[in-house]
Amino acid sequence: MPTVASSALRVPQSRIRELADIAMKMDDVLKLYFGESNIPTPEYIKRAAAKALEEGYTFYTENAGLPGLRQDLADYYRRVQDVDLDPRSEIVVTASGVQALNVTIRCVLNPGDEGLVLTPAWPNSAANIWMDNAIPMEIPLLLRGDHYAVDFNSLEAAVTPRTRLLVYTSPSNPLGWVATEDEQEELLEFARRYNLWLLADEVYERLYYRGTAIGVPAPSILRKASRDDAVIVAQSFSKTYCMTGWRIGWLVARRDMGQKATQLNEFIISHPASFIQRAAQTALAQGEEELRRMIARLRENRDFCLAALRRMPGVTVPSPDGAFYLFPKIEGLTDSFAFCRKLLEETHVGFAPGVAFGAGGEGSVRICYAAEQGILERAMERLDGFLSQHQEDHGFTRG
Ligand SMILES: Cc1ncc(COP(=O)(O)O)c(C=O)c1O
Repeated sequence: MPTVASSALRVPQSRIRELADIAMKMDDVLKLYFGESNIPTPEYIKRAAAKALEEGYTFYTENAGLPGLRQDLADYYRRVQDVDLDPRSEIVVTASGVQALNVTIRCVLNPGDEGLVLTPAWPNSAANIWMDNAIPMEIPLLLRGDHYAVDFNSLEAAVTPRTRLLVYTSPSNPLGWVATEDEQEELLEFARRYNLWLLADEVYERLYYRGTAIGVPAPSILRKASRDDAVIVAQSFSKTYCMTGWRIGWLVARRDMGQKATQLNEFIISHPASFIQRAAQTALAQGEEELRRMIARLRENRDFCLAALRRMPGVTVPSPDGAFYLFPKIEGLTDSFAFCRKLLEETHVGFAPGVAFGAGGEGSVRICYAAEQGILERAMERLDGFLSQHQEDHGFTRG
């Protein structure tokens, strides 16, 4: 009997999805397990999509995306990151951030190669490495005081002759960690020294709270890299413009990689839907004001949850600088999936289990705070009650 390919069998099931599947069968769950804001796509973007359909954007486009959208992305990089890109060769529009990860990882790994992944991390990069018959090597970030930091000693120790790729996410899902400029330089140096592709997942670039003003982005690795560096950035409209369901993103890469990804995309997705590309142009052109309002709200949410969690005994939570997640560590917790399941069943609060995010994730839970204040208030209250109750009976704090 034919069987499923071993490369497919090796891809682990998403433990976030496993938890969500249980939650979706229940009523009245406070859903903080997915990486998604509850804000609908702004009206001006929806109207732009409808207008594009009326205008006849119903045909195939270039594999790399509409030239106008690529030009707008190049202008965007000049405006927000002060980076110069060639829209014809260094930018490829993709059908989401995850599709940008998929096609670029596909372009750099041979079967049996190894890809270093900084964790805890959203599981999709590692899963994509598995899908290419290659092996992800997870290197946990180190917690130093209140902030995470790249563990360069462990990175050095993990490099082998088969290593071809280093992936990191900044701002990070689930940590909210943002690579410092020194870390970016060191990561780039490290990649140059060992001849690695450096893949930076920057989909949370705009959700950054340490800028000189609201709306200032987290610094992109593209500010440090030269156009000859083997650097790839995966990007998305999902988080910045509340467009998760639209499936549109982009990648920035060295010219040869850009060309290869464009060519391979013919056989994978060809290109994202034409009218959605037009709507994405409108998002770039008109989105800044709404985006700033969203960042301000997210920062309030973050501060509220951070303060609430820090009052709970046995909970430690590092300060996140970006994205929309908190990743509290719960003293003595050894099975975050069982914890999240019980929390869900007893209190109807849905968090993602830390174990879903690879090495360094067990013992924590991920809370997405891109929700209304009222929901966050109830979730924090119920978590507090749940922890007190189970700390008394040592339900989750026995090793
Ligand atoms: C770190 C990270 N990268 C990429 C993505 C992909 O976003 P999308 O595929 O919706 O563009 C996500 C979504 O949760 C994410 O958290």
